[in-house]
Amino acid sequence: MDTHISPTQRLALVTGANKGIGFAVAEGLLGMGMTVYLGARDTYRGTSAVSALVARGYDARFVQLDVTDQASVDAAAETVAREAGGLDILVNNAGVLATPIHKPSRTSVDEVRATYEINVFGVVAVTNAMLPLLRRSSAARVVNITSNLGSVSLAASNRAFPQLLAYNSSKAALNALTVTYANELRSERILVNAVSPGSVATDQNGHAGALTAAEGALLPIRMATLPPGGPTGTAVTADEDLSHHPLPW
Ligand SMILES: NC(=O)c1ccc[n+]([C@@H]2O[C@H](COP(=O)([O-])OP(=O)(O)OC[C@H]3O[C@@H](n4cnc5c(N)ncnc54)[C@H](OP(=O)(O)O)[C@@H]3O)[C@@H](O)[C@H]2O)c1
Repeated sequence: MDTHISPTQRLALVTGANKGIGFAVAEGLLGMGMTVYLGARDTYRGTSAVSALVARGYDARFVQLDVTDQASVDAAAETVAREAGGLDILVNNAGVLATPIHKPSRTSVDEVRATYEINVFGVVAVTNAMLPLLRRSSAARVVNITSNLGSVSLAASNRAFPQLLAYNSSKAALNALTVTYANELRSERILVNAVSPGSVATDQNGHAGALTAAEGALLPIRMATLPPGGPTGTAVTADEDLSHHPLPW
């Protein structure tokens, strides 16, 4: 799959980057010569992931970042500002699909709230904290990692659609956030898109996905490195053959 890279894009931050798709996105951006901050809520897991990349010669940097903790988010923004002075790419990847899964009618408000804290409110906290840094870039891109399960259209047209109340609705909300930010930031040429990586084998699904993490990272990387004038306010999803198509809202 083609990827686009602007010579002006050098600095990226990926949340939830200590493993899974986030780690693979960070690895891919590093392979393009970028400096990448790997955000992780756990310092040991984060520094372990970064050490493995630094040992391969990459400019990978750990930043402690729990997307549900405003103090952590603010401190991460201060670290990136102090060390790098700006940011070209933000990948809001951190997300959870909490288990065990109950039927919607048996899902508690607390379960829904806990998922929203990460998948929805965490994205707002991180995006707002990083926007002053992204505004210093000449080619800023924001990628929000969504899911096909967040598609209301697909759910409405398929009675067998998985009934994951918290997860599905959180990703639908994330899609709405994406469009809303994109509309605000269009005039500043900051491109904001939602990307579903496809079905990817990670801890989230007990490694049951069809794609490897590296394969699942390809479309997020492509949308993180869009050329000037590229799409904004869209949602796209990857297929098992690594092609991609628009994800219906
Ligand atoms: N796998 C798929 O098939 C699939 C499909 C569609 C969308 N997605 C989405 O892709 C993204 C990555 O998921 P994945 O499959 O790579 O799952 P994963 O391997 O479980 O990775 C999730 C990452 O999010 C981090 N995280 C969770 N809560 C956090 C918090 N409060 N603050 C910061 N980081 C936090 C985790 O950190 P810890 O290690 O500390 O828990 C981990 O690094 C998620 O948004 C997910 O919904 C995945």
